[in-house]
Amino acid sequence: MSKKAISIIILAAGKGSRMKSNKAKVLHNISGKPMLYHIIKASKELSDDITVVIAHQKEQVQEEMEKYFDNLNFSIQDAKKYPGTGGAMKNVTPKYEKVLVLNGDMPLITPKALEGFLEIDADIIMSIFDLQDPSGYGRVIIKENHVQYIVEQKDANDAELNTTTVNAGIYAFSKKLLQEYIPKLQNDNAQKEYYLTDLIKMAKNDNLNIVPLLVNEEHFKGVNSKKDLAEAEEIMQERIRNKWMELGVTMQLPKTIYIDESVVFEGECSVENNCRITGASKIINSHIKAGSVVQESTMIDSDCGPMAHLRPLSHITNSHIGNFVETKKAILKGVKAGHLSYIGDAQIDEGTNIGAGVITCNYDGIKKYKTIIGKNVFVGSDSQLIAPVTVEDDVMIAAGTTLTSGSIASGNLALSRTKLRLVKDFYYKFFSNK
Ligand code: UD1
Ligand code: CA
Repeated sequence: MSKKAISIIILAAGKGSRMKSNKAKVLHNISGKPMLYHIIKASKELSDDITVVIAHQKEQVQEEMEKYFDNLNFSIQDAKKYPGTGGAMKNVTPKYEKVLVLNGDMPLITPKALEGFLEIDADIIMSIFDLQDPSGYGRVIIKENHVQYIVEQKDANDAELNTTTVNAGIYAFSKKLLQEYIPKLQNDNAQKEYYLTDLIKMAKNDNLNIVPLLVNEEHFKGVNSKKDLAEAEEIMQERIRNKWMELGVTMQLPKTIYIDESVVFEGECSVENNCRITGASKIINSHIKAGSVVQESTMIDSDCGPMAHLRPLSHITNSHIGNFVETKKAILKGVKAGHLSYIGDAQIDEGTNIGAGVITCNYDGIKKYKTIIGKNVFVGSDSQLIAPVTVEDDVMIAAGTTLTSGSIASGNLALSRTKLRLVKDFYYKFFSNK
C-alpha cells in the first residue's frame, strides 16, 4: 500500500488502570510485541507523519518504540491539566490536512482495515460497530441515520446504555477542524476529562458532515483489561497461524499452537500440537514435535521433540533433538541428542551422538563456560562434561563418565567409573536378619 498525504496520531498516554498492572497499558504484549508496536507497524504503511502521544511512563514507552521504529514524533500530553483523549490532542501539530486518530489500545488494526478512512470525503469519519455486549465502549447515538453524539459509559443514562452501537475509537478529521474544536473541549463529565468524542457533538451542532463507518471487532477491538488482552491475543494468533499455513507450514491442531509475530518459517516445515515458538526464531525445513518450546532459535533441516526445549540462541542444523532435551546457546551441526539432555553454551560437530542423560555442566555458580565437542564423538549415557572442556574429533566417552576441565585428544576413550564390586549373597543375608 502506498503512503498517503495523511497524518496519523496515536493516543498512548493513558494509564490503563483497568489492566491492574504497573506497566503502561500500551506496552502489554500481543504475540510477543507491545500493543503499540502493532498499531505503529500498521500506521507506518500508510503515513510518513506519525505522532505518538505519551504521558504515563513516557520514557519507557518512547524508548521501547524507538527500538523498533525510526522517524516517529512523540508529543507529551499534560495529563494533569488536560486529562482524557481530547486533552491528549492539545499539543499535536500534524503535517498534513487529513488526520487519522487512533487509540493506542487497538492492536488488531491493519492497513487494509484503515483504507476506508482514507477514501471517503467528509468533515469527520468515525468508526462504529454493533455489539451484543457494548460494555466499556462509548455509545453512539444515531437518529434518522445521522450521528448525534457519543456518550461515554460512565456518563450514559439507561436508554443510552441500551444502545448497542459503539464508538470503535478511530476517527479521520481535517487539521482545520481539530485546530478549531480541540481548544473548545470542556471536561464537564463523570471523569472530569477532556473527551475527544465530544468533537462529534460539536460538529453536529455546526451541521458538519459526519460519516459513520461500520467496522468489525476483529480489527477494531479495544483492549482495556487482561480479559480483552487475552481475547485480542487469540485473534492475532489465528491470523499468524493462518498466514503461515497459507505459506505452506503444516500445523496439527493449530488452535493449540502459539507463534510470536517475529517467527519466520521457510521451506517444508511442520508443527505438531501444543508447541510454542517465540522471539526471532527461524525454522527452515524442520519438524517441531508435540509439546516443544522453541525460543529465539534457528532450526535448519532438523527435528525436535516431543517435549524439547530450545532456549535462546540455539542453532540446530541437520540435527535430531529428542524428547526432554534442553538446549541453550548451543550450535549443533549434524548431531543426534535423542533423550533427556541439557546442552548449554556448547558447540557440537557432525556425526556426534549425545547419549541419554548427558549434561554439559556450564555453570560453576559464578560464571558460565563452554563445551566444545568435535566430529564423530560418542558421548555415552549419563555423562557429565564439566566446562570448560574440549573434546576433539573421534573420541569415545564411556557411559557414566564425569569429564573434568581440559581437553581430550582424538582417538581416546575417556572413562571415569569406580570399579564394580560384587558382594556374594549380601542380599539374602541383609534381609534375613531383619
Ligand atoms: C475510548 C472512547 C470510547 C470508545 C473506546 C474505543 C473517549 C473519551 N472514549 O474509550 O468512546 O468506545 O475508546 O476503544 O475517547 N489516552 C491518552 N490520554 C488520556 C487518556 C487516554 O492518550 O488522557 C489514550 C489511551 O492510552 C488509550 C486511548 O487513549 O490508548 C483510549 O483511552 P481509553 O482510556 O482506553 O478509552 P476508552 O475508555 O476505551
Ligand atoms: Ca480503550
